Amino acid sequence: MDFTDTTALITGASGGIGAGIARALAARGADVVLVARSADRLDALAAEIRRAHGRDVLVVATDLSTPGAGERVQAALGDRRVDVLVNNAGFGLSGRLADTPDLTRLTAMVTLNCTTLADLTARFLPGMIERRRGAVVNVASMAGYFPAPGLAAYAATKAFVVSLSQAVWAETRGTGVRVAALSPTVTDTGFFDVAGEASGAGMRRRSVEQVVATFFTTLDADRPVVVDGRLNEVGARLARLAPRGAVLRAVGSRFADRVSAR
Ligand SMILES: NC(=O)c1ccc[n+]([C@@H]2O[C@H](COP(=O)([O-])OP(=O)(O)OC[C@H]3O[C@@H](n4cnc5c(N)ncnc54)[C@H](OP(=O)(O)O)[C@@H]3O)[C@@H](O)[C@H]2O)c1
Repeated sequence: MDFTDTTALITGASGGIGAGIARALAARGADVVLVARSADRLDALAAEIRRAHGRDVLVVATDLSTPGAGERVQAALGDRRVDVLVNNAGFGLSGRLADTPDLTRLTAMVTLNCTTLADLTARFLPGMIERRRGAVVNVASMAGYFPAPGLAAYAATKAFVVSLSQAVWAETRGTGVRVAALSPTVTDTGFFDVAGEASGAGMRRRSVEQVVATFFTTLDADRPVVVDGRLNEVGARLARLAPRGAVLRAVGSRFADRVSAR
């Protein structure tokens, strides 16, 4: 895809994977809209992008886990169109569901990871379809491919992202618009500061640069779902085919006891 003079909106652009994707899209000629809560970090990235690439940058500092997030983002855009939407903002909660210490955090996670992602997709797709040009990449997770005791609700939100993206990929075939889910695995970002270090302990971390490279592969591939890392792609396929009981035992023994013991 040629990004010259397109506008890309990236949620969760204040750090980690989202900031990496924003930098890379600007380097390829896109104007960018950076969305997250941390205004200071977004402003710093905006200044860096303007300096390095001379692109137009709009910062939208807003909490996407609260009702009305989609409307707030659209209002901030004014008459800018969105050619590339990257629904990347998300966070995880680990531990047994029954031990959730703060139920408002659980609701916020589901709203951010699912509701706002679906809202923004539905909000910006019609314009892309009308122009017969554009792309939506929803950042899911390897955890979206199997039920994950110890990370139950987070994995369920990512299963939602995978399922939604697959179906909308089919709905938009032949429209000139590309819709896909990109599933990172354990990646070296601030994710584990929020989800808990134990949820990524003992696993080799992929770099943001590797995930950004897979982001561009995702845009070029004619597939509804892409998993970052070749071996991980195979793992995701196996996880989908394996009997649920075996998957629950395997994930439970590797993972649930560790995160629940925190
Ligand atoms: N890192 C991994 O191992 C991994 C693996 C699989 C999938 N993923 C997925 O990758 C995506 C990016 O995560 P990351 O690894 O880059 O983690 P990260 O470094 O923690 O970045 C998360 C981004 O989401 C934003 N965000 C969080 N809550 C928000 C809210 N309520 N409203 C608006 N923005 C919010 C954060 O910005 P503010 O705090 O400034 O709002 C930040 O920009 C997430 O969807 C995550 O589930 C990550």
